[in-house]
Amino acid sequence: MAINPVPDHVPSEMVRDFSLFTSPGMAPTPNGDPHAAVACVHAGPPIFYSPCNTRGGRGTWVITRARDQRRVLQDTETFSSHRSIFSSALGENWPMIPLELDPPAHGVFRSLLNPLLSPKRVMVLEPAVRERAITLIDRIAASGTSCDVMKDFAFPFTVSIFLRLLGLPDHRLDTFVGWAKDLLHGDDVKRPAAARTIVAFIDELATKRRKEPVDDFMTFIVQAQVGGRRLTEEEVRGIGVLVFVAGLDTVAAAIGFGLAYLARNLKDQELLRREPDRIMLAAEELLRAYPTVQIIRVATKDIDFEGAPIRKGDYVSCATMIANRDPAEFECPNTVDLAREENRHAAFGYGPHRCLGSHLARREIVIGLEEWLARIPAFRIKKATAPITSGGHVFGLENLILDWS
Ligand code: HEM
Repeated sequence: MAINPVPDHVPSEMVRDFSLFTSPGMAPTPNGDPHAAVACVHAGPPIFYSPCNTRGGRGTWVITRARDQRRVLQDTETFSSHRSIFSSALGENWPMIPLELDPPAHGVFRSLLNPLLSPKRVMVLEPAVRERAITLIDRIAASGTSCDVMKDFAFPFTVSIFLRLLGLPDHRLDTFVGWAKDLLHGDDVKRPAAARTIVAFIDELATKRRKEPVDDFMTFIVQAQVGGRRLTEEEVRGIGVLVFVAGLDTVAAAIGFGLAYLARNLKDQELLRREPDRIMLAAEELLRAYPTVQIIRVATKDIDFEGAPIRKGDYVSCATMIANRDPAEFECPNTVDLAREENRHAAFGYGPHRCLGSHLARREIVIGLEEWLARIPAFRIKKATAPITSGGHVFGLENLILDWS
């Protein structure tokens, strides 16, 4: 990874050898605990500069306190979301919508999309979500006493919900899981190729729904109006791609980290199996302890923030995995307490861009855990295997081999 030089305006005493990409435990690591590895920043200053903290090797300011992260995420005039992360990998610059838009355009699209992922809409989707979880888990239970949860459950489950959202049948599930795998874990050749395939698929689906509307997400998008006009092709693509990318490895990783914790903590596992009513609260604590997303903003002007000379164009990192281990916000932040109440964690972000899919994500995670615990007896991590974890923009698990023999 090429590392950019530290800019002249950054005082050398504010630079720290820390990175969500290159610090120990961030590269794919057997039995790693990337969340614990980053939690240690709370022993240091509230803000510092990391010389290499993006996939492309860019430096970022790192905001460690949850309270300061909220200030950044609320102040969209000073800290912009406009970055074109997905399209720049293709040499293009269209935004994922609404994620990479700033107000006022952001609000226009957010209002348009809110009803599609509202609690009411998620309630309608819920039977399909449960049915897909049950089908996948029953298949696993019938085929033996061990499986790779990521490959056999977490990824197919989240991809299948995306297909359901778009009103598509499940028979193309394996193709989509392959695209997702290449996009998230592929090399420099496979990743852009998968990105192109996904864009082509979204474009093609939009064209189809324009010609033959049905009652689904994409038809709604292509027929929608903003400011008295239809959405452009680029806007439709920006929405479609975001809905695919946003709900994929985030939910899969949340299920994976949750099941990994339960596999290592049999008493908690037994408690949730015996008293499933506790799963909803437990899922919040697992999201707090094992959040997955690093949020990045770009400074639109020079500002001195908590003693840091942030200059226009600087990247500012608000890592949810750091906010959620802030001792000023959570008692014993490094301890998982499945009965923790008043759990105002940052896993879904904060401010105007707070996760639009959080209601759906929560139901997917809770239903996934409920059905898993109801169908699979006491499980552990299979002997002589080690789950491979990784850091990065989205923390993840590459595999998780569980055994219940
Ligand atoms: C556990 C699972 C998930 C986590 C941890 C998560 C986390 C996040 C975070 C932290 C943000 C804020 C990003 C920022 O401020 O730059 C966000 C935004 C977003 N998420 Fe999620 N997400 C999850 C699942 C989903 C799902 C299932 C969907 C949809 C199907 C979704 C759709 C979105 C959208 C559309 C945005 C952009 C909102 C906006 O810009 O106004 N997410 N998510």
